[in-house]
Amino acid sequence: MTNLQSEIKRRKTFAIISHPDAGKTTITEKILYNGGVIREAGEVKGKSGKKAATSDWMALEQQRGVSITSSVMQFDHKGFRINLLDTPGHVDFGEDTYRTLMAADSAAMLIDAAKGVEKQTRKLFEVCSKRKIPIFTFANKMDREGKDPLELIDDVESTLGIKCIPITWPMGMGDRFKGLFHRVEKSIYLYKLGQEDPEVIPVTGWQDELVKKYLPEEFYDKFAEDMELLDVAVGDVDMESFLAGEVSPMTFGSAKNNWGVDIFLKMFIDLAPGPAGYMSQNKELVDPLSKNFSGFIFKIQANMDKRHRDRVAFLRVCSGRFERGMKVTHQRLNRELRLSYANQFQAQDRETVEEAFAGDIIGIVDTGNYQIGDTITDGKKLKFQDMPRFSPELFARLSIKDPLKKKQLQKGVQQLAEEGAIQIFIDPIVGDQDPIIGVIGELQFEVLLYRLNDEYKLNVKLEKMPFAVARWPRHKPGGLPLSQTERLKGSARTFIDKSGHLVALLSSEWDQGWLEKENPEVSFHTSEGL
Ligand code: G4P
Repeated sequence: MTNLQSEIKRRKTFAIISHPDAGKTTITEKILYNGGVIREAGEVKGKSGKKAATSDWMALEQQRGVSITSSVMQFDHKGFRINLLDTPGHVDFGEDTYRTLMAADSAAMLIDAAKGVEKQTRKLFEVCSKRKIPIFTFANKMDREGKDPLELIDDVESTLGIKCIPITWPMGMGDRFKGLFHRVEKSIYLYKLGQEDPEVIPVTGWQDELVKKYLPEEFYDKFAEDMELLDVAVGDVDMESFLAGEVSPMTFGSAKNNWGVDIFLKMFIDLAPGPAGYMSQNKELVDPLSKNFSGFIFKIQANMDKRHRDRVAFLRVCSGRFERGMKVTHQRLNRELRLSYANQFQAQDRETVEEAFAGDIIGIVDTGNYQIGDTITDGKKLKFQDMPRFSPELFARLSIKDPLKKKQLQKGVQQLAEEGAIQIFIDPIVGDQDPIIGVIGELQFEVLLYRLNDEYKLNVKLEKMPFAVARWPRHKPGGLPLSQTERLKGSARTFIDKSGHLVALLSSEWDQGWLEKENPEVSFHTSEGL
C-alpha cells in the first residue's frame, strides 16, 4: 500500500445529528477529551462560556443559545485521523446541516433517552437516509430516569425505520445507573460519578454472577428478560446492512458524566467507514484512493474573523492529496487557481495545513471565487453532483432608507446567498437589484438582518412577501430544468434562481395542483438539484 492509500484509509469523517438540547455540544467535547484533543472539559462549550466564540457573530448564537454555525474539528485517535463535522442544532438551519452531511461518511445520532426521537432528529435522519450513510446511535442522559431501553429502540425503529443493534445495554438508570454491559466484548463497564476511567470487568456473558453482583437487584429480572430477547432477536452488526444505512449500532451513556463515550469512540473506530467515493455529474464514481486531487465546496462562512474580513470556503477532499500551494482548476470558472492558504481546524484553533487527503475537510481562504457546490480538481475535467437547494418557506424583500447604500446591500445579499445562508430569486421585470429573499425558518431572517447590520453596517427593513413555497419546473420526460427564457402556462409568478433556472413561487402548497393541471408537460420539484 502506498503512503497515499494508507493516509486516505485512516481517515474517518463524521457528523453528529440531534435535536437541540440532546447533548451534542457536551458529547462533542467529551469525544475530543477522550480523543486526547483537549485536556480539560469546558474548553469547547460555547453557550454559557465565551471560549468557543470563533467569530464575532457567534455573539448572536450565544444570545439565542442555539448553535448556528457548523464547525469542523480534526484529531488523531488510535492511528486514525478523525474529522468531526458539527451541524447546526436549530431546525431553521436544516439546509446547512444537509450540506454538511454531504461531506460526511457517517453520522452519529444522539438521542435524549428520556425523550426518544424528536422532530429535528427525524428531519436530519431523513437527510442521512437519502444519502444512505451509515448511522450510529447514542442514547444519552442515562444518569436521568428515561424511557425503558427497549421502548427507546422501538421508538427509533418505528419512527425512523432503521433497526437498532445495541452493542451495550444499560445496567440501571438514573441515580441507580451503574454502568453498561458490553454485549460484544462480554464485559461490564462500571462508571462512578467523578471517576475518570471506568472499571472494566470481563464476564462470561450476561448470565455471569458478576453482573448480578453489580446490577441493583430491582433491575435484574428486567435486565435478564431484555438480554434473552436481544440474544434471540438481535445478532451482530451486519456490515453490509450498516454501510447501507439499514441498521444502526447503538450504545448508551451520559455525555455529561463522560460515561459510555469511550465505548462509543471505540465502536466508531471499529466500524465507521473510510472516505466514500463521490459520484460526478457524468455518473463516474470518483475513487477516493486515486492519485488525482478533487473536492467540492460544501460550506462558505464569511467574516469568521471580522478583523480580517475573511471568508472561508470549506472543501471536502474527495480523492487524492491536497498540498499547500498546489495549482488547481476551478471547474465552474474554468480557471486555474493556486491554493496557498488552507486551514484545518482543531477544537477552536485554526492552523495552516501543508497537506490533506481524501476524507479531510480544509478551509480555503476565499476572496470571492467560490460558491457552494463548486468542484475543484488538479486539472481533470470533472463536476460533482450539485448541492440540492430546498424550497424556502418564508419570502421577503429588503429595503434600505439610504439610497447610497443600495450597492452595498446588493453585495451583502449576494455574498450571503453564495454562503447558502439565504436563497435569492430574481424578478425578471425588476432585475437583480432588488431580489426576493427566501429562507426556511424565521431565525435565518434574524441572522440575515443581524449580519447585514453587524458586518456591513446596513440598517435594513424586511418586507414579507405572500409566498410560502418554491417549485422548480422540469420538462417531462428528460427532467431538464426550465431556463429563464421559457414560460409556464397560466398565472403562476415565475422568477429566476441563482443557476438561471425558472422557479415558481406559490402562496401555498395547494397551488401546485392547478399549476400541474395547466402545465401537464412539466413536473414540479420541491428542491433544486435532487
Ligand atoms: P445541544 O448541543 O445538543 O443543544 O446540547 P448540550 O450539549 O448543550 O446539552 C444540553 C443540556 O443537556 C445541558 O444542560 C447539558 O449539560 C445537558 N446534558 C448533556 N448531556 C447530559 C447527560 O448525559 N446527562 C444530563 N443529565 N444532562 C446532560 P444545561 O442545563 O442547558 O447546561 P449546563 O448548565 O449543564 O451546561
